[in-house]
Amino acid sequence: MMLWMDYHNPVLLFETVEGLDIKPDGIYVDVTFGGGGHSREILRHLGDNGKLIAFDQDKDALENTIDDARFLLINENFRYMKRFLRFHGFNEVDGILGDFGVSSHQFDEAERGFSTRFEADLDMRMDQDNPLSAFDVVNNYEEGELKRVFSDYGELRAAKGMAKIICENRKSEPIRSSEQLKHALRRFLPQHKENKILAQIYQAIRIEVNQELDALKEFLHQSLEVLKPGGRLSLISYHSLEDRLVKRFMRSGMFEGEPEKDVFGRVEVPMKPVGKFQIPSEEEIKENNRARSAKLRVAEKLPQGLK
Ligand SMILES: C[S@@+](CC[C@H](N)C(=O)[O-])C[C@H]1O[C@@H](n2cnc3c(N)ncnc32)[C@H](O)[C@@H]1O
Repeated sequence: MMLWMDYHNPVLLFETVEGLDIKPDGIYVDVTFGGGGHSREILRHLGDNGKLIAFDQDKDALENTIDDARFLLINENFRYMKRFLRFHGFNEVDGILGDFGVSSHQFDEAERGFSTRFEADLDMRMDQDNPLSAFDVVNNYEEGELKRVFSDYGELRAAKGMAKIICENRKSEPIRSSEQLKHALRRFLPQHKENKILAQIYQAIRIEVNQELDALKEFLHQSLEVLKPGGRLSLISYHSLEDRLVKRFMRSGMFEGEPEKDVFGRVEVPMKPVGKFQIPSEEEIKENNRARSAKLRVAEKLPQGLK
């Protein structure tokens, strides 16, 4: 039997849970349950009347569920958080934790197709029932759409050329595996940069397959609706596209532009950041290399009308 620590080693465990400033009787949400490391730590801070509701869209995460009357695990995408919280009778919560991205388990299972290390079919779905897979993106997207994915989500300078060559290659036969994809893109993968560029390509496809940025935006909007005034958001991002959305939203409640000023030049914002962002210590990164790109941000919902 696999232990939850082998499934995923939680990143910034104590800092992220501390960010929630837990009240023992409060209601908390962990929207990225994974191996349940953060959830277990939240439960340690809750009293008998506290509650923790967790989400994960990956069926494999259900194996790690926690046998505890205070705990409920929901196998759904967190973009539907509000709907499922209401369905289970929770209209307002005291804090929400999110630890975005891919779990170690997802990376390490070759057949899930998330890792550049393995020869595997193109998949990359976090939700095994998602009708869209990496195969569909690579083989069915039009050239312009593929370019957008590589450019917007992988920040790849050669996005246009990559999209073109993929479209040429797939004419003779579909690109089914990681090896075939690598082969098609070989001219863009000089040996000294191969791993870095491949990681960017994989990141781009993965974000598209799982609609990660749209899900994050929907989740952030809903978090404002379900958090009580004074309630906390404690969120770990793993790349700049995610972090930018989180940072802007925590500062202004928006993803773009600036909030409007009233006639007195005052700005009404729905939440305020708590402290500066935090990153893992060198020791943590040495022990857990996957922590290296993590960035934790915490914010508190303000009482309405506060300026
Ligand atoms: C980095 S892991 C979280 C690890 C967890 N904090 C722990 O301590 O084990 C991210 C998890 O979030 C899940 N996930 C990512 N995006 C999701 C979404 N939109 N809805 C639900 N689950 C999601 C993934 O399936 C994965 O299991």
